[in-house]
Amino acid sequence: MKIIMLGAPGAGKGTQAKQIAEKYSIPHISTGDIFRANIKNGTELGKKAKTYMDQGLLVPDELTCDLVVDRIKQDDCKKGFILDGFPRTIPQAEALDAALSKMGEKMDYAIDVDVPDENIVRRMGGRRVCLNCGATYHIVSIPTKVEGICDKCGSEVVLRDDDKPETVQKRLSVYHEQTQPLIDYYNRQGILKTVNGTRPLEEVFADIVTILGA
Ligand code: AP5
Ligand code: ZN
Repeated sequence: MKIIMLGAPGAGKGTQAKQIAEKYSIPHISTGDIFRANIKNGTELGKKAKTYMDQGLLVPDELTCDLVVDRIKQDDCKKGFILDGFPRTIPQAEALDAALSKMGEKMDYAIDVDVPDENIVRRMGGRRVCLNCGATYHIVSIPTKVEGICDKCGSEVVLRDDDKPETVQKRLSVYHEQTQPLIDYYNRQGILKTVNGTRPLEEVFADIVTILGA
């Protein structure tokens, strides 16, 4: 099963994608996580990506597409995969389709997690992430058991650099300009499914499972 998670920054793509990956035993491929790991490790890619991410801008397609195309060719992706945060532009979607078509394959589902902008701003301010294991929390809706400490690995949880209010506004306007057109793109392919992302995460997850089949 090959799935794309669409949705605004902070819509809950990552939270849902991790659970779907676990339930269906497929790899979770998050371009945001890949860039953040490169930043943490001080790689050349990380240094380049950081200059864009800190401003709320998209990392250029030429740094992003090959990365994902190489990843989906790996053996563990043969049984399927879930893409989270990619594609984010029409050229990225076309590059993905072209690569899959060469492999004689195509995407099965594009799931749009729909959340209005005003909810997004609230969510991002309360998001806390573990830089050690990647777990994501929210100070109100999904709190850690001990304040400021990751439930999974005991490391500190922090506000993401790009979750500052001014960067969130920029990310939202970039989303509407460059990523939202993908909703039409996948609708035309007949693989678009929309879920209401404003409800508790268990309900959003149940909707997605209904779409994908148990
Ligand atoms: P990326 O990491 O992909 O960020 P994003 O798309 O902005 O998405 P987020 O991770 O912010 O949100 P999410 O939808 O995963 O929400 P989450 O589950 O965390 O990308 C970061 C940057 O990298 C980009 O800005 C860009 O610069 C670059 N980049 C990445 N991919 C790229 C690409 N393909 N091309 C170019 N550049 C790229 O949830 C958000 C919060 O809400 C959390 O606190 C969570 O706990 C909470 N929450 C989740 N679900 C619920 C719920 N149902 N109810 C209440 N709270 C909830
Ligand atoms: Zn952790």
